[in-house]
Amino acid sequence: MRRAVCPGSFDPVTNGHLDIVGRASKLFDEVVVAVGVNKSKNRLFDAEERMDMLRQACAGFDNVQVAGFRGLLTDFCSEHDIIAIVKGLRAVSDFDYELQMAQMNASLAPIETVFVPTSPEYSFLASSLVKEVAAFGGDVSGLVPDFVRELLTVRLAERAAAGD
Ligand code: PNS
Repeated sequence: MRRAVCPGSFDPVTNGHLDIVGRASKLFDEVVVAVGVNKSKNRLFDAEERMDMLRQACAGFDNVQVAGFRGLLTDFCSEHDIIAIVKGLRAVSDFDYELQMAQMNASLAPIETVFVPTSPEYSFLASSLVKEVAAFGGDVSGLVPDFVRELLTVRLAERAAAGD
């Protein structure tokens, strides 16, 4: 049984993430979408909210499960018999950092990183840009699942009302 992980912050999950998860689900017997819950960045959605969105978004993939992880990704992989980390590469600009992480992770544990080229229609897509576009009233339909777009609209309105 070959199990892989698709790790990320997923704040929020985009259609680009789901494209990579879906393709990983065809390459491996099981895929764990692992949400990093380290407190390193300001998040729009908390870890439970991000995991709930992923569970709903990944419901159509029968070999995909969602989990949270804290600490090192390699420790999570060792604890869950995960043999590969699957990462989407959008452009050459992603490569330097992703290669560095892949090599660091390989130095920490016997784990392979598998790079999957992002589908061209999602090559510009990032959660941070989706949040920025939505915050200024831009249309993000087609970039995130509809239910995520609705949650995003509500959360941004809450933040705006709170003066954030
Ligand atoms: O969606 P992101 O923010 O690009 O996800 C980054 C993530 C969570 C995959 C990465 O930061 C990570 O693996 N964090 C866990 C901590 C860790 O293992 N750090 C060493 C990486 S070499």
